[in-house]
Amino acid sequence: MSITQKGDELRFDENLFIVSKTDLKGKITYANDLFIEISGYKEQELLNIHHNILRHPDMPKAIFKLLWDRVQAGNEIFAYVKNRTKNNFYYWVHAYITPMIDTKTNRVIGYHSVRRAPSLKGIAVIEPLYQKMINAEKQGGISASTAILENTLSQLKVSYDAFILSYE
Ligand SMILES: Cc1cc2nc3c(=O)[nH]c(=O)nc-3n(C[C@H](O)[C@H](O)[C@H](O)COP(=O)(O)O)c2cc1C
Repeated sequence: MSITQKGDELRFDENLFIVSKTDLKGKITYANDLFIEISGYKEQELLNIHHNILRHPDMPKAIFKLLWDRVQAGNEIFAYVKNRTKNNFYYWVHAYITPMIDTKTNRVIGYHSVRRAPSLKGIAVIEPLYQKMINAEKQGGISASTAILENTLSQLKVSYDAFILSYE
């Protein structure tokens, strides 16, 4: 069994990857079998649909802004993402998102996300941080939420990337 359920949470086997590709706007162009299975959607319900179909309300907008800023600039990003399934379950992923480059034209033609099961230690750190960021967003929008993230990083004296990768 690659997917297990505990309450409202789904967890997937740590040796497996959830994979998707999107076009430049974030519409899903490919989803692997595990993506389809855990999401609760049929492949036809996912293809050509925006990736925010999985968006969970516990995710800060500031994380998605950071994600898009990074990949649109041609860079990669690691991020913890909590996703919501069709049947209102949730699952945490540790995502690695990269631009896909057409080698002939050297242009970005879409984006690629490979996700592993995050460590419980990582979730235990990220979940309360995201909660704080969401609360800040309600008052002061994305800039207030980004400030919470930046303050956390500067207190720990680490970059975003080092922070995210330290809880593997
Ligand atoms: C390759 C790629 C994979 C993404 N994967 C997810 C994902 O698994 N869950 C999610 O909520 N957003 C994902 N996003 C971000 C969404 O495009 C979107 O920014 C996010 O769901 C917030 O949606 P909203 O801006 O409409 O609120 C991904 C984006 C890209 C480029």
